[in-house]
Amino acid sequence: MRQIRLRATATAALLSGLILTGCDTPPVESVQRGYRGTGMELIASPDDLAATVANNQVPEPQPPVPAVGPKAADIYQNVQILGDLSVGEFTRLMAAITQWVAPEEGCNYCHVAEGFQLDTKYTKKVARVMIAMTQRANADWGDHVGNVGVTCYTCHRGNNIPEYVWAQDPGQAHAAGIMTASQNIASEAGVYSSLPYDPFTAYLDGAKEDDAALPWRVAGNTALPNGNRSSIKQTEWIYSLMMHFSDSLGVNCTHCHNSRAFYDWEQSSPERVRAWYGIRMVREMNHEYINPTTEWLPEHRKGPLGDALKVNCATCHQGAYQPLLGANMVKDYPNLARYTLAKKAQPMDDADASEADQPAANSAPASASEAF
Ligand code: HEC
Ligand code: HEC
Ligand code: HEC
Ligand code: HEC
Repeated sequence: MRQIRLRATATAALLSGLILTGCDTPPVESVQRGYRGTGMELIASPDDLAATVANNQVPEPQPPVPAVGPKAADIYQNVQILGDLSVGEFTRLMAAITQWVAPEEGCNYCHVAEGFQLDTKYTKKVARVMIAMTQRANADWGDHVGNVGVTCYTCHRGNNIPEYVWAQDPGQAHAAGIMTASQNIASEAGVYSSLPYDPFTAYLDGAKEDDAALPWRVAGNTALPNGNRSSIKQTEWIYSLMMHFSDSLGVNCTHCHNSRAFYDWEQSSPERVRAWYGIRMVREMNHEYINPTTEWLPEHRKGPLGDALKVNCATCHQGAYQPLLGANMVKDYPNLARYTLAKKAQPMDDADASEADQPAANSAPASASEAF
């Protein structure tokens, strides 16, 4: 707490100023999203919308090149996943990746002067895993990313590390000894609520195979208490995750739910089904692709407990309910939407990476109805 002494009037002015900055200046716009009377609407301020539009512009695509000529696998020495590309396409993709992830550092962010084929830098090894993860999302997670798809830019936006990532949260040192019950500490993850401050390790790490152990379904579906054993404390976990959903997408709860029956899929919007697939996709990204990079990462790229920085809904969405406001960047980079594995893989410096490069079978249910 800062020690500032102000006279009563100044304090009052300051307080009202603080309170008002938490509100949207009128007029606000509202869009009806559900049946009339259900209160399912999106409320937004034009100022916020203008800021979202400004934050979600996409860069110009690299000039197209023909897919003819010798393949990268035949020309280069250590191409393990992009082997199927023509040399022209390969070079164009390298230029795009540089623009999306390391615009200031250039090719040398991943490569060394001794030769492009060398896997000396951890950034190159991570980038290879990232290419595989991006191809997997576009090729097999259409139930979430639709026809729009994702590129490196969706998450990175010109940054080496995406702006919105998470790692396991140890809580705050000063709270040690106080009974925090994993909550009541202001954290970005819980959107500064008193709810659990790290819903991500529980729900989005993907390491916990046993979904049933997590409090996903908590709401009672009868008017009177009748057999619902979920405690308030359990309930608070899913609410914390839900705060993150709304915050990341820049929407109200009613984007996905009818608030008269949060649990009921029949009364929810199709976006809730999208989100259901999104949870599975994010868990797979973290578990199958990102966590295995931990052993290569330097200390300053890890979280306080030594785990890798991971993906959540904000990593792609960044405040927009459709990342980059629905702009389709993949159409200009179709090689990020299919598997382009080299026929003859070369041995890597680090054999463990090949495991992460092999996408696991898609475990998502074939239809939404199987999900519930
Ligand atoms: C963000 C990391 C990253 C950046 C930046 C990057 N590359 Fe690469 N580059 C890779 C990865 C990963 C591979 C291996 C791809 C594979 O295994 O299929 C690779 C492979 C190559 C190869 C093949 C070398 C061989 O013989 O095996 C060439 C050539 C190349 N890159 C050129 C470039 C150029 C030119 C630039 C700058 C315009 C660039 N790269 C920028 C990650 C990067
Ligand atoms: C879904 C979001 C997402 C997408 C898509 C994505 N990345 Fe990443 N990227 C991350 C996260 C999270 C990290 C931090 C975790 C890590 O380093 O393993 C990261 C880290 C990296 C790093 C390490 C940078 C450093 O300085 O430590 C490189 C290089 C990278 N990504 C390249 C790429 C490339 C190239 C693509 C596109 C083929 C891509 N990424 C697509 C989320 C993403
Ligand atoms: C982007 C879509 C989305 C938004 C926004 C969203 N939710 Fe959810 N919500 C879901 C999904 C998907 C589930 C189901 C998770 C599961 O059961 O697998 C869920 C589950 C729930 C549940 C548990 C339902 C049950 O069966 O017990 C509650 C309660 C809930 N949400 C409340 C909220 C609240 C409160 C907000 C706003 C702060 C919110 N949700 C915002 C998608 C969303
Ligand atoms: C890898 C990037 C990525 C991540 C991570 C991600 N999404 Fe998405 N999401 C997308 C893309 C791409 C779309 C498709 C937009 C379209 O079809 O125009 C989308 C669409 C959606 C939609 C439908 C939006 C609408 O109104 O049309 C919802 C809801 C959604 N995502 C929720 C989530 C939730 C919840 C999470 C976290 C559990 C999440 N997303 C994580 C990329 C991502």
